[in-house]
Amino acid sequence: MKRPSRRLIVGRSNPLHGVCDVPGDKSISHRVALFGAMASGVTEARNFLMAEDCLSLLAAVEALGCRVEHVGSDVRIDSDGVGAWHEPAHVLDCGNSGTAMRLLLGCLAGRPFSATLDGDASLRTRPMGRVVGPLRLMGAEVEGTGDKCVPPITITGGGLRGLTYDLPVASAQVKSALLLAGLQADGTTVIHQPSLSRDHTERLLPAFGARLNIEGLTVSIDGPQNLCPASISVPGDFSSAAYFLAAAALVPSSEVLVENVGLNHTRSGLLEILEDMGADVRVSRTVSAGGEPRGDVTILSGPLRATEVSGEIIPRAIDELPLLAVLATQAHGETVLRDAAELRVKESDRLEAMAAGLSALGAKIRVLDDGWVVSGPTPLHGATLHAGLDHRVAMTLAVAGLLADGETIIDGAQAVATSFPGFAAVLSSLGAQVTMQ
Ligand code: S3P
Repeated sequence: MKRPSRRLIVGRSNPLHGVCDVPGDKSISHRVALFGAMASGVTEARNFLMAEDCLSLLAAVEALGCRVEHVGSDVRIDSDGVGAWHEPAHVLDCGNSGTAMRLLLGCLAGRPFSATLDGDASLRTRPMGRVVGPLRLMGAEVEGTGDKCVPPITITGGGLRGLTYDLPVASAQVKSALLLAGLQADGTTVIHQPSLSRDHTERLLPAFGARLNIEGLTVSIDGPQNLCPASISVPGDFSSAAYFLAAAALVPSSEVLVENVGLNHTRSGLLEILEDMGADVRVSRTVSAGGEPRGDVTILSGPLRATEVSGEIIPRAIDELPLLAVLATQAHGETVLRDAAELRVKESDRLEAMAAGLSALGAKIRVLDDGWVVSGPTPLHGATLHAGLDHRVAMTLAVAGLLADGETIIDGAQAVATSFPGFAAVLSSLGAQVTMQ
C-alpha cells in the first residue's frame, strides 16, 4: 500500500498534563486475528488495533477463506478452521508487518498449498531465514529471495513433524511461528529460548483451547490440535503508551496518566528502566483479563540519571529502546545500551536511525555494534528529520522534538499509521504542539 507523504511538525513543549488511553495492543491483535482464523467458529475481539499492520493480516486471512467484519474496533472473524483455508488467489501483502509475515508463515507451514507473501520496501529487507530455517526442518518447502532470505517468500506446507529447536535469538515472532506450525505437526515441538521474549502466544493459545507446556525458558506443544473460537478484550498497547510516558518523564512539570494499558512483564521493561533513571512512575488499578495484566500508569517528570541497559531486559523492552536514547539525552551522565543488535533488523536499523535523528537535534550519541553510548544532559535544537519507513522512529523523534528549541519536522510520518494512526491527536490532547500535515 503506497500512502501519501505526511510530516509531523513538533514544537518545544509546555508541560504535558492529562489522562489518555491508547489503541489495542498490536502483538495481541495480530494473535487474536490469526488464532481466530485458525479456529472453527466465530471469534470476537474488542479494542482490536485498527492500524495498517493488523489490517494487512485481516486481509490475508480473508484471502485464505475467512470472513472478517468490524464495527469500529470490534472485530468478528468467522472461520471454518485452518483445515478449510484455501490457496490464496493473489500474493499476501503483509505491508510493513514482520509479525504478520512470520506468524502467517508458521500457520501456512501446515497447509497443503502454496502461498507467496510480500511486503513494503522495509519488510523486503527483513531477515526471514530465522523462521524459514526451522520451518524447513519441520517439513515445509519455503523459498525466500536472495542470500539473506528476504521477502517475497513462497511457502508450500503440509506433512509437518515436531521439532526440538534452540532459538538463536530471543524472538517472539519466531517462537510463535514455530508454535503455530507445531499445532499442526505430528509429534511434539519443543522450543528453547535464550531469554524470555514476549509471551502473548503462550498466554492466548489456551484461551483458544490449545494445550502447551512451559518450563522455564522452554515451551512445548503436542500436535496436531484444533483451536476453538474465543472472545477477547485487547488491552491498550504498552508500546504506544510508552511515547507518552517518556514524554511526560522528559518535559519539565508534566504529569500524565495512561489508562487500560497492557502490563505484561515481558513487555513492560521500559517501566523498570524509567525507575532506574529516577522517574516517578505509579501503576494502579491492575487487573488480569484473558491471561494478560493491564492497568493505569501515571508518570511525573523529574531529573533523570544515566543508566546501563543490557541482558535479559532487552527483549522485554525491545520496541521501546529508541525512547531510551531520547531519555538518555536529558539524563545526567553516560547511558550505555548493549546486547541490542536486534534493533538493526527492525522496521529500520533503529541503532543508526536514532543516532542520525538525535545527532541532527544536537544529541551526543555514539553507535556501538549492539547499542549506543549517550551523554547528557544536552540541549536539543529543532531540525528536519526522516522516519525512514519506521513508525517507531517517527514517533520517538516526535518525542525528542518536544525537548528541542524551535521546530522539528519529521518527514515520512505517514509511517505512524502502521501502529498508531491517532498518535498526534493524543499527544496534542496532553498539551503538546504537534500537528500531522
Ligand atoms: C513482536 C515481537 C518482537 C517485536 C515486534 C512484535 C511480536 O519482534 O519487536 O514489534 O508481536 O511477536 P521479534 O520477535 O523479532 O523480537
